Parts: sequence; C-alpha cells; structure tokens
Amino acid sequence: MKTAKLVLEGKEHELPVVVGSEGEVGIDIAKLRQATGAITLDDGYGNTGSCKSAITFIDGEKGILRYRGYDIDDLVRGGCRFSEVAYLLLYGELPNQRETEAWRYQLTHHSLLHEDMKKFFEGFPSSAHPMAILSAMVASLSTYYLEGENQEEVNIIRLLAKAKTIAAFSYKKSIGQPFVYPLNHLSYPANFLRMMFAVPTEPYEVNPIFEKALNQLLILHADHEQNCSASTVRMVGSSGANLFASIAAGVGALWGPLHGGANQAVIEMLEQIQADGGNTKKFVDMAKKKDSGFRLMGFGHRVYKNHDPRCRILKETVGKVLEQLGAKDPLLDIAKDLEQAALSDPYFIERKLYPNVDFYSGLIYRAMGIPTSMFTVMFALGRLPGWIAQWKEERTTAGARIHRPRQIYTGRTQRKFVPLAERP
Ligand code: ACO
Repeated sequence: MKTAKLVLEGKEHELPVVVGSEGEVGIDIAKLRQATGAITLDDGYGNTGSCKSAITFIDGEKGILRYRGYDIDDLVRGGCRFSEVAYLLLYGELPNQRETEAWRYQLTHHSLLHEDMKKFFEGFPSSAHPMAILSAMVASLSTYYLEGENQEEVNIIRLLAKAKTIAAFSYKKSIGQPFVYPLNHLSYPANFLRMMFAVPTEPYEVNPIFEKALNQLLILHADHEQNCSASTVRMVGSSGANLFASIAAGVGALWGPLHGGANQAVIEMLEQIQADGGNTKKFVDMAKKKDSGFRLMGFGHRVYKNHDPRCRILKETVGKVLEQLGAKDPLLDIAKDLEQAALSDPYFIERKLYPNVDFYSGLIYRAMGIPTSMFTVMFALGRLPGWIAQWKEERTTAGARIHRPRQIYTGRTQRKFVPLAERP
C-alpha cells in the first residue's frame, strides 16, 4: 500500500501512506490543504499522528509497551535501574558498564540545588500542591542555567538530577521539616526516599523493598509516546522554547485528573468507597451514569483497549510489597473488588475499559508512606526522561516545524462594528 485515495467534491486526491517499523499505517496529509483547501478534523487527536518517533512503541490492542525496542516487562524484571532506562530513552541504547558509571556520576553530582533556589520554597504557602511547586521550580531552573552552545546535554542532566531534590524539598516544605540534601553514593530512588523521609536528628536507612519498588515504578512511568504531557512538551519545544520551560508545561499537563492526576484521584475514590461502606458495585453503577459526573478513576485509556501492561506488573508489586512488609491495606481489597466488578460489567466490557497504570500505583506509594498529594509528582519524576527524550527528538528532527494545528471555525461571521455609545 503506497497511497490512499480521497474523493472530495467529486475530485480524487492521492495521499502518500507512511508505514512505521511495527507496521503502523498513517496517511500523510501534509499537503492536503494545499491540494484541496480542506483540513482534517480530529477532536482530541485520537486518529492523528503528530510526529514520527523512534522512542516508544505501544500496541494498545495487544497490551505491548516497549522503550527503544525493549519490552517493559524485560526492563523491569531484568533488574534494570531507572537511571539506565533514562539513558536508554535519551540516547537510544542501554549503557554499558563504563557508560553506566559515568552517567550515574553525572546524575548524582548535579543533584544539589543552587542555594538561592531554596529561598523560593519559602515563598510558597505550606498548602501549595507539590505539582505547582514542581512546575514553578522547573521553570525557574531556566533563570540559572541558560541555553547556549554545548549547554543542552548538561541542562538535561541538571534537570534529571535536580528534579528529585525539588520534589523532596516540596514535601519537606509542606510538613515544615528541614530540607535533606542528596547523597551521591545512593541510587536515584534511594536518594529520593532519603530526602523525603530522613530527619537530621536520627539515622535513616532506605528500606530496600521500597527502593526496589520505586525503581520499578519510575521505569514503568518513564515514557508513553505521544500522551497529553509529552505532546505538550513537544508542542512547547517546537516553538524553540528552552528545555526547562517545555518540561514545566508538561508538568502542568500531567497534573490533570484525566492524565497523571488520576493516581491521586484513585486513592481518593477508594477512600470514598471505604467511607461509604465498601459497596464497589454502587460506584461501578454510578460510573455508568453519564449525568453522575463520576468516572472510575484509574480506568480506561485512549490507547490500551485490552490491558495496560504497566497495571499488570504494578498489581503484582503492590501485593509483594505489602506481603514483604507484613502489612495490609484495606484499600487494596476494595481496589481488587472494584476491578472485578467493573471487568465483569457489560458497560466496561463493551467499551474495553481496563485498569490503567494509575489504578494500583498509588497503593504502592501509600505503603511507602508517600502522601497522596505527592503521587502525581512521583509520576512526573518517572516521566521526566521520556519528556526530555521527546523534546530532544522534536528539536533534532530535520525539517521539524512549529506545532500549529488548524480549526474549523464555528463562530459568528463578519459583522459591522458598533461604537460603544450606539450599542443597545
Ligand atoms: N469510567 C466510566 N466510563 C468511562 C471511563 C471511566 N473511567 N473512561 C471512559 N469511559 C466511557 C466514556 O464515558 C465513553 O462512553 P460513551 O462511549 O458511552 O460516551 C467511553 O468510555 C470512551 O471514553 P472516552 O472518554 O471517549 O475515552 P478517551 O480515550 O477520550 O479518554 C481517559 C481516556 C481520559 C483515560 C478516560 O478513560 C478517563 O477519563 N479515565 C479516568 C481517568 C484516568 O484514569 N486517567 C488516567 C489515564 S492513564 C494516564 O494518563 C496516565
């Protein structure tokens, strides 16, 4: 198949067809308007490819997710570190031993914040949502680290290294505890956990169960091709905006409850079900009623129409973490019940609505003692290498143009201007 044919007002137009490395087919409409005067309309972009990308592959029908060709299961179960996956996403290959050491050195030795930046935290109210702080602080990095020749790579490292420090400081600020500085010999997840939970008055050992689980969570969130936040990052980057400004915009996009904010919303929903007596069927029924304004949070996905492979792994992990801790979480039982009730309901079956990555992730964060308000920040930390890889790809694609969609205008047609004094 080389071309597609479009007949518009009786006239036939040939459109080139692009086939991806996994056989995905796209009709190239780049010259459509020039040739026909018409544009395509795809509200929500469900059928629109915004770019060609070599980073992440998803087959939503089969439940496949691969970073640079590697299955997510293999990366997680093969004992990969999050820092290696970040390298993979950014540079296309898994690092060898020497590259791993150099990379990890960079990621730790850039993790301190400029001391002046600590003062920014004083200005935020203690009730500030940590996503607001994260976005503001990431944008603020552009005031310290300018774009310039040979600055792009070091700025990428600075951002990756400092994001976890910013995230942990935003939590410390919210509970009024002193900031804990990073330690260079620790892994990315261990360093973050220590900055979150250590206090200067007593020793702190990172629990290896949490370190392993967090490493896994970060890997599972690391990229997801052209989702809302990654597309935002690419859109902002396409105007030539710097790395920090583009990523700060991505943080904003992720915050929404239909995207990364769903992990916080899931726990709030499970708590609501628990407080209501635990009747999951009642909530499944409510989610089916369009006028209820209620949706099952952590359910459904634009791309996955079978299962979300990340959710399958996380469901296993939450069970293991709680078992290893010898702990129980009544919300896990409610979540499993809810999943069961939804998956056997024709409404969810017909619409192919399955639990997504956000459904179980919050229960693992809870077991670690991470507060609900920080959940979406955890997502952002994981997604950061993906956003940066997407930004970099956008910026280095030959012939890439500013992202500027069109519209079908439905407003008033031209009318005569009426001066203020003459308006009725
Ligand atoms: N609960 C109840 N009904 C749902 C749900 C849900 N969680 N999700 C979708 N539906 C229904 C819709 O009402 C719609 O029904 P209809 O065909 O009768 O009108 C149908 O399923 C298709 O849903 P859309 O909203 O058109 O699907 P879309 O691809 O636009 O949205 C989304 C996907 C945003 C994830 C949606 O499923 C949702 O709101 N889920 C809950 C929020 C959530 O978990 N978000 C996290 C997604 S994963 C991520 O971003 C990391």
